Amino acid sequence: MNYFSFKDGVLHVDNISVLEIEKKCATPVYIYSELCLSNNYKALEEALENKLGKSHPKLIAYSVKANSNVAVINVLKKINSGADVVSSGELKRVIKAGITGENIVFSGVGKTKDELFFALDADVMQFNIESISELEMLSEIASFKNKKAPIAFRINPDIDAGGHEKISTGGSSTKFGIPYKQAINAYEYAKTLPGIKVVGIDIHIGSQITDLEPFKLAFNKVLLLYKELIKNGHNIINLDLGGGIGVSYDENTKPFLISEYADLIKEKFGSLDCKLIFEPGRYITANAGILLTKVIRKKESYNNSFVIVDAAMNDILRPALYDAHHEVISVLEMKKGKEVTDYQVVGPICETGDIINRKARLSNIKDGDLLAIKFAGAYGAVMSSYYNSRDLVPEIMISNNKINVIRKRILIEDFISYENIPE
Ligand SMILES: Cc1ncc(COP(=O)(O)O)c(C=O)c1O
Repeated sequence: MNYFSFKDGVLHVDNISVLEIEKKCATPVYIYSELCLSNNYKALEEALENKLGKSHPKLIAYSVKANSNVAVINVLKKINSGADVVSSGELKRVIKAGITGENIVFSGVGKTKDELFFALDADVMQFNIESISELEMLSEIASFKNKKAPIAFRINPDIDAGGHEKISTGGSSTKFGIPYKQAINAYEYAKTLPGIKVVGIDIHIGSQITDLEPFKLAFNKVLLLYKELIKNGHNIINLDLGGGIGVSYDENTKPFLISEYADLIKEKFGSLDCKLIFEPGRYITANAGILLTKVIRKKESYNNSFVIVDAAMNDILRPALYDAHHEVISVLEMKKGKEVTDYQVVGPICETGDIINRKARLSNIKDGDLLAIKFAGAYGAVMSSYYNSRDLVPEIMISNNKINVIRKRILIEDFISYENIPE
Protein backbone atom coordinates (compact mmCIF):
# COMPACT_ATOMS: atom_id res chain seq x y z
CA MET A 1 0.00 0.00 0.00
CA ASN A 2 1.26 3.46 -0.87
CA TYR A 3 0.47 6.16 1.67
CA PHE A 4 2.19 8.92 -0.30
CA SER A 5 0.83 8.74 -3.83
CA PHE A 6 -0.29 10.96 -6.67
CA LYS A 7 -3.99 11.56 -7.16
CA ASP A 8 -5.12 13.81 -10.01
CA GLY A 9 -1.46 14.75 -10.47
CA VAL A 10 -0.92 15.96 -6.88
CA LEU A 11 0.90 14.19 -4.05
CA HIS A 12 -1.47 13.01 -1.33
CA VAL A 13 -0.83 11.67 2.16
CA ASP A 14 -3.45 9.01 2.52
CA ASN A 15 -6.33 10.95 0.92
CA ILE A 16 -5.22 14.47 1.80
CA SER A 17 -3.56 16.66 -0.78
CA VAL A 18 -0.26 18.16 0.33
CA LEU A 19 -1.47 21.44 -1.22
CA GLU A 20 -4.21 21.51 1.39
CA ILE A 21 -1.68 20.73 4.13
CA GLU A 22 0.61 23.50 2.94
CA LYS A 23 -2.26 25.96 2.93
CA LYS A 24 -3.01 25.11 6.54
CA CYS A 25 0.48 24.59 7.95
CA ALA A 26 3.00 26.33 5.64
CA THR A 27 6.49 24.92 5.06
CA PRO A 28 8.81 23.38 5.99
CA VAL A 29 6.67 20.77 7.70
CA TYR A 30 6.97 17.07 8.51
CA ILE A 31 3.91 15.04 7.54
CA TYR A 32 3.25 11.51 8.82
CA SER A 33 0.64 8.95 7.92
CA GLU A 34 -0.83 7.26 10.99
CA LEU A 35 -2.04 4.41 8.81
CA CYS A 36 1.46 3.77 7.50
CA LEU A 37 2.95 3.86 11.02
CA SER A 38 0.49 1.33 12.37
CA ASN A 39 0.68 -0.91 9.30
CA ASN A 40 4.48 -1.03 9.54
CA TYR A 41 4.19 -2.13 13.16
CA LYS A 42 1.57 -4.72 12.24
CA ALA A 43 3.70 -6.05 9.38
CA LEU A 44 6.53 -6.82 11.80
CA GLU A 45 4.17 -8.26 14.38
CA GLU A 46 2.47 -10.44 11.80
CA ALA A 47 5.77 -11.70 10.34
CA LEU A 48 6.97 -12.69 13.82
CA GLU A 49 3.68 -14.32 14.74
CA ASN A 50 3.56 -16.24 11.47
CA LYS A 51 6.92 -17.81 12.22
CA LEU A 52 6.99 -18.03 16.01
CA GLY A 53 3.31 -18.61 16.63
CA LYS A 54 0.90 -16.06 18.08
CA SER A 55 1.42 -17.17 21.64
CA HIS A 56 5.23 -16.98 21.73
CA PRO A 57 6.03 -14.32 24.37
CA LYS A 58 7.40 -11.21 22.72
CA LEU A 59 7.51 -7.45 23.02
CA ILE A 60 7.95 -5.06 20.14
CA ALA A 61 9.46 -2.12 21.99
CA TYR A 62 9.38 0.75 19.50
CA SER A 63 12.69 2.58 19.66
CA VAL A 64 11.51 6.04 20.46
CA LYS A 65 14.68 7.80 19.34
CA ALA A 66 13.63 7.33 15.69
CA ASN A 67 10.63 9.60 16.15
CA SER A 68 9.68 10.59 19.65
CA ASN A 69 6.61 12.74 19.07
CA VAL A 70 4.08 11.66 21.72
CA ALA A 71 1.36 11.35 19.07
CA VAL A 72 3.51 8.93 17.08
CA ILE A 73 4.28 6.89 20.18
CA ASN A 74 0.58 6.90 21.07
CA VAL A 75 -0.36 5.49 17.63
CA LEU A 76 1.88 2.52 18.38
CA LYS A 77 0.76 2.23 21.99
CA LYS A 78 -2.82 1.83 20.78
CA ILE A 79 -1.77 -1.32 18.94
CA ASN A 80 0.12 -2.69 21.96
CA SER A 81 3.65 -1.53 21.26
CA GLY A 82 6.11 -1.22 24.08
CA ALA A 83 9.00 1.24 24.03
CA ASP A 84 12.77 1.30 24.06
CA VAL A 85 14.03 4.54 25.61
CA VAL A 86 17.51 5.98 26.13
CA SER A 87 16.90 8.94 28.43
CA SER A 88 14.52 10.11 31.11
CA GLY A 89 13.21 12.56 28.50
CA GLU A 90 12.19 9.69 26.25
CA LEU A 91 10.78 7.87 29.26
CA LYS A 92 8.62 10.91 30.07
CA ARG A 93 7.39 10.92 26.49
CA VAL A 94 6.37 7.25 26.44
CA ILE A 95 4.63 7.59 29.81
CA LYS A 96 2.73 10.59 28.44
CA ALA A 97 1.80 8.49 25.39
CA GLY A 98 0.32 5.88 27.72
CA ILE A 99 2.96 3.12 27.75
CA THR A 100 3.57 1.65 31.19
CA GLY A 101 6.71 0.29 32.84
CA GLU A 102 6.09 -3.39 32.17
CA ASN A 103 6.44 -2.64 28.45
CA ILE A 104 9.46 -0.34 28.61
CA VAL A 105 13.14 -1.20 28.27
CA PHE A 106 15.72 1.38 29.27
CA SER A 107 18.80 1.38 27.02
CA GLY A 108 21.67 3.84 26.73
CA VAL A 109 25.35 3.99 27.54
CA GLY A 110 25.34 6.97 29.90
CA LYS A 111 22.35 6.74 32.18
CA THR A 112 22.70 9.15 35.08
CA LYS A 113 21.81 8.62 38.72
CA ASP A 114 18.71 10.77 38.32
CA GLU A 115 17.64 8.79 35.27
CA LEU A 116 18.09 5.47 37.08
CA PHE A 117 16.02 6.80 39.99
CA PHE A 118 13.27 7.92 37.66
CA ALA A 119 13.21 4.66 35.69
CA LEU A 120 13.08 2.59 38.90
CA ASP A 121 10.07 4.62 39.99
CA ALA A 122 8.48 3.91 36.60
CA ASP A 123 9.09 0.16 37.15
CA VAL A 124 10.61 -0.37 33.71
CA MET A 125 10.72 -4.04 32.75
CA GLN A 126 14.44 -4.12 31.96
CA PHE A 127 17.53 -1.98 32.29
CA ASN A 128 19.99 -2.69 29.49
CA ILE A 129 23.29 -2.26 31.28
CA GLU A 130 26.40 -1.17 29.41
CA SER A 131 29.12 -1.14 32.07
CA ILE A 132 29.95 -2.50 35.51
CA SER A 133 29.92 0.97 37.04
CA GLU A 134 26.40 1.54 35.73
CA LEU A 135 25.41 -1.82 37.25
CA GLU A 136 26.85 -0.85 40.62
CA MET A 137 25.15 2.54 40.58
CA LEU A 138 21.82 0.91 39.75
CA SER A 139 22.22 -1.69 42.50
CA GLU A 140 22.92 1.02 45.05
CA ILE A 141 19.88 3.08 44.06
CA ALA A 142 17.60 0.04 43.86
CA SER A 143 18.75 -1.17 47.30
CA PHE A 144 18.05 2.28 48.71
CA LYS A 145 14.52 1.94 47.35
CA ASN A 146 14.20 -1.65 48.60
CA LYS A 147 13.86 -2.82 45.03
CA LYS A 148 15.64 -5.26 42.75
CA ALA A 149 16.27 -3.78 39.32
CA PRO A 150 15.70 -6.22 36.44
CA ILE A 151 18.75 -6.14 34.19
CA ALA A 152 20.22 -7.45 30.96
CA PHE A 153 23.75 -6.73 29.86
CA ARG A 154 24.11 -5.23 26.43
CA ILE A 155 26.72 -7.40 24.82
CA ASN A 156 29.15 -5.93 22.32
CA PRO A 157 29.81 -8.91 20.03
CA ASP A 158 32.52 -7.16 17.97
CA ILE A 159 30.59 -7.54 14.74
CA ASP A 160 30.56 -5.03 11.94
CA ALA A 161 26.94 -4.47 10.92
CA GLY A 162 27.93 -2.84 7.62
CA GLY A 163 26.57 0.50 6.48
CA HIS A 164 27.66 3.90 7.73
CA GLU A 165 30.23 3.84 10.54
CA LYS A 166 28.28 6.43 12.52
CA ILE A 167 25.32 4.07 12.92
CA SER A 168 27.25 0.83 13.41
CA THR A 169 27.32 0.04 17.13
CA GLY A 170 28.45 -3.56 17.49
CA GLY A 171 32.17 -3.20 16.81
CA SER A 172 34.97 -3.38 19.38
CA SER A 173 35.96 0.26 18.81
CA THR A 174 32.56 1.63 19.77
CA LYS A 175 31.47 2.78 23.22
CA PHE A 176 28.53 0.39 23.32
CA GLY A 177 27.93 -2.67 25.48
CA ILE A 178 30.34 -4.84 27.39
CA PRO A 179 32.93 -6.97 25.57
CA TYR A 180 31.55 -10.39 24.76
CA LYS A 181 34.42 -12.16 26.52
CA GLN A 182 33.67 -10.36 29.78
CA ALA A 183 29.99 -11.24 29.76
CA ILE A 184 30.12 -14.42 31.85
CA ASN A 185 32.05 -12.70 34.64
CA ALA A 186 29.76 -9.68 34.49
CA TYR A 187 26.69 -11.88 34.98
CA GLU A 188 28.36 -13.75 37.88
CA TYR A 189 29.13 -10.42 39.51
CA ALA A 190 25.61 -9.06 38.91
CA LYS A 191 24.20 -12.06 40.75
CA THR A 192 26.03 -10.99 43.90
CA LEU A 193 24.66 -7.44 44.01
CA PRO A 194 21.75 -6.79 46.37
CA GLY A 195 19.76 -4.43 44.13
CA ILE A 196 19.99 -6.47 40.95
CA LYS A 197 17.93 -9.22 39.41
CA VAL A 198 19.37 -10.73 36.23
CA VAL A 199 16.62 -11.29 33.66
CA GLY A 200 18.06 -11.09 30.18
CA ILE A 201 20.62 -10.58 27.46
CA ASP A 202 20.58 -7.55 25.17
CA ILE A 203 22.23 -6.80 21.86
CA HIS A 204 21.97 -4.03 19.28
CA ILE A 205 24.62 -4.00 16.57
CA GLY A 206 23.62 -0.99 14.50
CA SER A 207 21.04 0.68 12.36
CA GLN A 208 19.96 0.49 8.71
CA ILE A 209 21.19 -3.11 8.39
CA THR A 210 20.11 -4.47 5.02
CA ASP A 211 21.87 -7.84 5.03
CA LEU A 212 20.91 -10.63 7.45
CA GLU A 213 24.48 -11.91 7.85
CA PRO A 214 25.55 -9.57 10.70
CA PHE A 215 22.33 -10.42 12.54
CA LYS A 216 23.10 -14.13 12.10
CA LEU A 217 26.59 -13.74 13.54
CA ALA A 218 25.36 -11.62 16.44
CA PHE A 219 22.44 -13.92 17.24
CA ASN A 220 24.78 -16.93 17.28
CA LYS A 221 26.78 -15.19 19.97
CA VAL A 222 23.64 -14.41 21.97
CA LEU A 223 22.62 -18.04 21.73
CA LEU A 224 25.99 -19.33 22.92
CA LEU A 225 25.97 -16.91 25.83
CA TYR A 226 22.38 -17.83 26.69
CA LYS A 227 23.28 -21.54 26.92
CA GLU A 228 26.30 -20.82 29.05
CA LEU A 229 24.37 -18.58 31.43
CA ILE A 230 21.55 -21.09 31.82
CA LYS A 231 24.18 -23.76 32.59
CA ASN A 232 25.57 -21.43 35.26
CA GLY A 233 22.16 -21.13 36.89
CA HIS A 234 21.05 -17.70 35.66
CA ASN A 235 17.37 -17.18 35.10
CA ILE A 236 17.42 -15.62 31.62
CA ILE A 237 13.83 -14.93 30.68
CA ASN A 238 14.27 -12.09 28.15
CA LEU A 239 16.32 -11.90 24.99
CA ASP A 240 16.42 -8.34 23.66
CA LEU A 241 17.50 -8.54 20.04
CA GLY A 242 17.72 -4.80 19.40
CA GLY A 243 16.67 -2.83 16.35
CA GLY A 244 18.51 -2.18 13.13
CA ILE A 245 16.14 -3.48 10.45
CA GLY A 246 17.03 -1.56 7.30
CA VAL A 247 14.70 0.12 4.81
CA SER A 248 14.99 1.01 1.15
CA TYR A 249 15.89 4.69 0.85
CA ASP A 250 16.66 4.25 -2.85
CA GLU A 251 16.00 1.68 -5.52
CA ASN A 252 19.54 0.25 -5.28
CA THR A 253 19.13 -0.65 -1.62
CA LYS A 254 17.32 -3.93 -1.29
CA PRO A 255 16.98 -4.91 2.37
CA PHE A 256 16.07 -8.44 3.41
CA LEU A 257 12.36 -9.17 3.63
CA ILE A 258 10.77 -8.94 7.04
CA SER A 259 9.65 -12.57 6.66
CA GLU A 260 13.32 -13.56 6.22
CA TYR A 261 14.20 -11.70 9.42
CA ALA A 262 11.38 -13.53 11.19
CA ASP A 263 12.66 -16.85 9.78
CA LEU A 264 16.04 -16.13 11.30
CA ILE A 265 14.49 -15.27 14.66
CA LYS A 266 12.57 -18.52 14.63
CA GLU A 267 15.61 -20.55 13.63
CA LYS A 268 17.78 -19.10 16.39
CA PHE A 269 15.38 -18.48 19.24
CA GLY A 270 12.03 -20.08 18.40
CA SER A 271 12.51 -23.07 20.67
CA LEU A 272 13.70 -21.15 23.73
CA ASP A 273 11.51 -20.47 26.70
CA CYS A 274 12.19 -16.73 26.62
CA LYS A 275 10.38 -13.51 25.89
CA LEU A 276 11.84 -12.03 22.71
CA ILE A 277 12.18 -8.26 22.66
CA PHE A 278 12.61 -6.22 19.47
CA GLU A 279 13.57 -2.56 19.31
CA PRO A 280 12.67 -1.37 15.80
CA GLY A 281 12.79 2.36 15.10
CA ARG A 282 13.48 3.12 11.47
CA TYR A 283 11.44 0.17 10.20
CA ILE A 284 8.31 1.59 11.83
CA THR A 285 8.68 5.28 10.98
CA ALA A 286 11.06 5.95 8.05
CA ASN A 287 8.63 5.57 5.15
CA ALA A 288 5.73 6.96 7.19
CA GLY A 289 6.91 10.57 6.87
CA ILE A 290 7.89 13.22 4.36
CA LEU A 291 9.31 16.68 4.85
CA LEU A 292 7.41 19.16 2.71
CA THR A 293 9.46 22.13 1.58
CA LYS A 294 9.11 25.11 -0.73
CA VAL A 295 11.53 26.35 -3.37
CA ILE A 296 12.86 29.78 -2.41
CA ARG A 297 14.79 30.27 -5.61
CA LYS A 298 16.93 28.58 -8.21
CA LYS A 299 20.55 29.50 -8.67
CA GLU A 300 23.12 28.63 -11.32
CA SER A 301 26.77 28.78 -10.31
CA TYR A 302 29.69 27.43 -12.34
CA ASN A 303 28.35 24.11 -13.55
CA ASN A 304 25.84 23.66 -10.74
CA SER A 305 22.09 24.01 -10.80
CA PHE A 306 20.94 24.69 -7.26
CA VAL A 307 17.43 24.64 -5.92
CA ILE A 308 17.40 26.52 -2.62
CA VAL A 309 14.52 25.34 -0.47
CA ASP A 310 13.12 26.48 2.86
CA ALA A 311 14.06 23.23 4.66
CA ALA A 312 17.66 22.88 5.73
CA MET A 313 20.12 20.72 7.62
CA ASN A 314 18.67 21.98 10.91
CA ASP A 315 15.34 20.40 9.90
CA ILE A 316 16.75 17.19 8.40
CA LEU A 317 20.30 16.44 9.49
CA ARG A 318 20.78 12.96 8.05
CA PRO A 319 22.22 13.98 4.65
CA ALA A 320 24.80 16.29 6.28
CA LEU A 321 25.56 13.92 9.15
CA TYR A 322 25.69 10.56 7.37
CA ASP A 323 25.63 11.43 3.68
CA ALA A 324 22.22 9.84 3.80
CA HIS A 325 20.13 9.70 0.65
CA HIS A 326 16.60 11.11 0.68
CA GLU A 327 14.77 11.20 -2.61
CA VAL A 328 13.32 14.62 -3.41
CA ILE A 329 10.27 14.81 -5.67
CA SER A 330 7.94 17.50 -6.90
CA VAL A 331 4.47 17.36 -5.34
CA LEU A 332 3.07 17.80 -8.85
CA GLU A 333 3.38 14.56 -10.77
CA MET A 334 6.10 14.70 -13.39
CA LYS A 335 4.64 14.15 -16.84
CA LYS A 336 6.23 11.30 -18.81
CA GLY A 337 8.72 12.48 -21.42
CA LYS A 338 9.29 15.86 -19.72
CA GLU A 339 12.84 17.13 -19.72
CA VAL A 340 14.54 16.67 -16.35
CA THR A 341 17.47 18.50 -14.79
CA ASP A 342 19.83 17.23 -12.09
CA TYR A 343 19.56 19.75 -9.29
CA GLN A 344 21.42 20.06 -6.01
CA VAL A 345 18.69 20.64 -3.48
CA VAL A 346 20.16 22.79 -0.72
CA GLY A 347 18.96 24.68 2.32
CA PRO A 348 19.56 28.32 3.25
CA ILE A 349 21.99 27.55 6.11
CA CYS A 350 25.49 29.00 5.95
CA GLU A 351 27.26 25.65 5.76
CA THR A 352 28.63 24.05 2.62
CA GLY A 353 27.27 20.75 3.93
CA ASP A 354 23.69 22.01 3.93
CA ILE A 355 22.82 19.77 1.01
CA ILE A 356 19.61 17.76 1.11
CA ASN A 357 20.09 15.90 -2.16
CA ARG A 358 23.08 16.17 -4.47
CA LYS A 359 21.30 14.95 -7.57
CA ALA A 360 17.55 15.34 -7.58
CA ARG A 361 15.99 14.70 -10.97
CA LEU A 362 13.34 17.39 -11.27
CA SER A 363 11.51 18.97 -14.13
CA ASN A 364 10.79 22.62 -14.76
CA ILE A 365 11.26 23.85 -11.19
CA LYS A 366 10.01 27.35 -10.38
CA ASP A 367 10.26 29.58 -7.32
CA GLY A 368 7.45 28.72 -4.90
CA ASP A 369 7.13 25.09 -6.05
CA LEU A 370 6.58 22.47 -3.37
CA LEU A 371 8.91 19.51 -3.02
CA ALA A 372 8.68 16.43 -0.83
CA ILE A 373 11.73 14.92 0.87
CA LYS A 374 10.85 11.26 1.17
CA PHE A 375 11.46 8.63 3.86
CA ALA A 376 11.87 11.37 6.44
CA GLY A 377 9.85 9.80 9.27
CA ALA A 378 12.84 8.33 11.13
CA TYR A 379 15.70 10.34 12.60
CA GLY A 380 14.20 13.46 10.99
CA ALA A 381 12.26 15.79 13.25
CA VAL A 382 13.94 14.31 16.34
CA MET A 383 17.30 15.66 15.18
CA SER A 384 15.99 19.10 14.28
CA SER A 385 17.39 22.24 15.86
CA TYR A 386 17.10 26.00 15.50
CA TYR A 387 20.60 26.45 14.06
CA ASN A 388 20.95 29.75 12.18
CA SER A 389 18.09 30.99 14.39
CA ARG A 390 15.43 29.30 12.32
CA ASP A 391 12.05 28.25 13.67
CA LEU A 392 11.77 24.65 14.83
CA VAL A 393 10.02 22.65 12.14
CA PRO A 394 6.43 21.54 12.93
CA GLU A 395 5.01 18.02 12.59
CA ILE A 396 1.64 17.01 11.18
CA MET A 397 -0.02 13.62 11.31
CA ILE A 398 -2.78 12.52 8.98
CA SER A 399 -5.19 10.27 10.88
CA ASN A 400 -8.47 9.13 9.38
CA ASN A 401 -8.04 11.77 6.69
CA LYS A 402 -7.76 14.54 9.24
CA ILE A 403 -4.84 16.97 9.48
CA ASN A 404 -3.54 17.02 13.06
CA VAL A 405 -0.80 19.37 14.19
CA ILE A 406 1.23 17.16 16.53
CA ARG A 407 4.07 19.63 17.09
CA LYS A 408 3.42 23.24 16.33
CA ARG A 409 6.08 25.41 14.80
CA ILE A 410 8.25 26.74 17.63
CA LEU A 411 9.22 30.26 16.73
CA ILE A 412 12.67 31.74 17.17
CA GLU A 413 11.01 34.35 19.41
CA ASP A 414 10.13 31.47 21.77
CA PHE A 415 13.78 30.42 21.97
CA ILE A 416 14.96 34.00 22.39
CA SER A 417 12.56 34.40 25.32
CA TYR A 418 14.73 31.91 27.28
CA GLU A 419 17.84 34.01 26.79
CA ASN A 420 18.98 36.82 29.00
CA ILE A 421 21.28 39.79 28.67
CA PRO A 422 23.02 40.19 32.08
CA GLU A 423 22.62 43.67 33.61
C1 LIG B 1 19.78 0.48 21.60
C2 LIG B 1 19.05 0.78 20.33
N1 LIG B 1 17.94 0.08 20.06
C3 LIG B 1 17.23 0.30 18.94
C4 LIG B 1 17.63 1.26 18.02
C5 LIG B 1 16.79 1.47 16.82
O1 LIG B 1 17.45 1.19 15.65
P1 LIG B 1 16.70 1.20 14.27
O2 LIG B 1 16.05 2.52 14.11
O3 LIG B 1 17.76 0.98 13.29
O4 LIG B 1 15.71 0.08 14.30
C6 LIG B 1 18.79 2.00 18.26
C7 LIG B 1 19.25 2.98 17.28
O5 LIG B 1 20.37 3.08 16.93
C8 LIG B 1 19.51 1.77 19.46
O6 LIG B 1 20.60 2.47 19.75
